[in-house]
Amino acid sequence: MLIRRWISRVQPSLSRNIRSIHSFSTAIPLSWKTCHSQLNKTFATGLAYNSFSTSTHARSSPVSAFYVPSFNLFGKGSLVEAANQIKLSGYKKVLIVTDPGIIKIGLCDRAKDLLEERGSTVYIYNGVQPNPTVTNVMDGLKLIKEFGCDSIVSIGGGSAHDCAKGIALLATNGGEIADYEGVDKSLKPQLPLISVNTTAGTASEMTRFAIITEETRHIKMAIIDKHTMPVLSVNDPETMYGLPPSLTAATGMDALTHAVEAYVSTAANPITDACALKCVELVGQYLRRAVVNGKDQEAREKMAYAQFLGGMAFNNASLGYVHAMAHQLGGFYNIPHGICNAILLPHVQLFNTKDARAASRLGDVALQLGCQDHTAQAAIEKIKDMNEQVGIKPYLRFLGILEKDFEELSKNAAKDACGATNPVQPTLDEVKSIFAAAY
Ligand SMILES: NC(=O)c1ccc[n+]([C@@H]2O[C@H](COP(=O)([O-])OP(=O)(O)OC[C@H]3O[C@@H](n4cnc5c(N)ncnc54)[C@H](O)[C@@H]3O)[C@@H](O)[C@H]2O)c1
Ligand SMILES: [Fe+2]
Repeated sequence: MLIRRWISRVQPSLSRNIRSIHSFSTAIPLSWKTCHSQLNKTFATGLAYNSFSTSTHARSSPVSAFYVPSFNLFGKGSLVEAANQIKLSGYKKVLIVTDPGIIKIGLCDRAKDLLEERGSTVYIYNGVQPNPTVTNVMDGLKLIKEFGCDSIVSIGGGSAHDCAKGIALLATNGGEIADYEGVDKSLKPQLPLISVNTTAGTASEMTRFAIITEETRHIKMAIIDKHTMPVLSVNDPETMYGLPPSLTAATGMDALTHAVEAYVSTAANPITDACALKCVELVGQYLRRAVVNGKDQEAREKMAYAQFLGGMAFNNASLGYVHAMAHQLGGFYNIPHGICNAILLPHVQLFNTKDARAASRLGDVALQLGCQDHTAQAAIEKIKDMNEQVGIKPYLRFLGILEKDFEELSKNAAKDACGATNPVQPTLDEVKSIFAAAY
């Protein structure tokens, strides 16, 4: 209520004074432990809190802004606390959106029990595929309509959250998911979404991005929409202990990619810079430990924070050509997103050194990664070393990718919304050359 009242008070003057406000969110600078009741109200008003209109990352605009979910839980025990919050918010018919791997490790049953013990009726959609598809979204949507669910809980990594965002968006806005490709195409808030993250990671549990694969065209659509942001994000490291080493490595390098791309992005600002650099530092210190020993509590916790920081950075500064190109590989060959990013990251950054600002910023990345030389070249070499240390193969040819597809992959990469904030806009031939160098 408080926030709604505040918005109605300030919105007219904001729209008069700001030429192009491209994003806005409520920031809650208080510890939830000390302000529990106030934050409960914030969480419950999630459906209505963000009524500002947005456009793309307007490079010409002097206005920068910051999106982050208003309520985020971290640390051991967050899953139970999330169930308490769902009860307090009065959600009664919950659809869990998850994948077979999460069912197998018993995490879905645990969440279902916690919700049922607190009086919710729980339905489950467990068909999410890695690189979730339009069909996955439509199948989940059918269940929402059939059972009249009032909320969604996504459990898993980026695939479960992105699929849930697609379902939640269509549940209130109607139409097809392709209608929302691009930036802020939806008109209404989505169904309330609570996202429990089990990888570290995509940070999809707290971003306004949803990446959905269109099976017929073999492309990944980037939906960047303020309405897709969950009302509550949950990062409980206990849900991450069982993540196998290969997935820990892939998702950890995805987090690093988010931070590096956001840091060199043309839409970066001092807030996203701080988030990005801290993410880089934590991934440099803890990823290897989490890969070597998945039960290393400190490493898991630090990686959960790292990926969230990376999420805060790219949710607001956006990404670049690593993601624009990786999305095509994921959509075309259905290979893990983090692996595609990890291999492409050094090659795209080498290309980005054409831009003096980006080159200098990559020197900062080298510093955060503990390199002796604070240069772009040192950062690029260090990223390659990190890949090797966590067992990621250095070239795309090891993933079954075919050179003959470079032309089509490059054309599709040029259409991906994530490329808009890359520090240098490559030509089609340059994108093909980057694919070739990474091959
Ligand atoms: N929306 C965003 O902001 C954003 C950002 C980056 C990437 N993405 C998207 O996210 C997707 C990739 O997500 P991801 O890398 O998190 O992987 P994922 O969600 O595809 O999961 C990969 C596998 O890991 C298993 N798994 C997950 N957590 C586990 C755990 N704790 N223990 C054991 N197994 C577990 C899953 O069952 C699944 O089989 C891609 O489609 C990518 O495009 C989205
Ligand atoms: Fe990513």
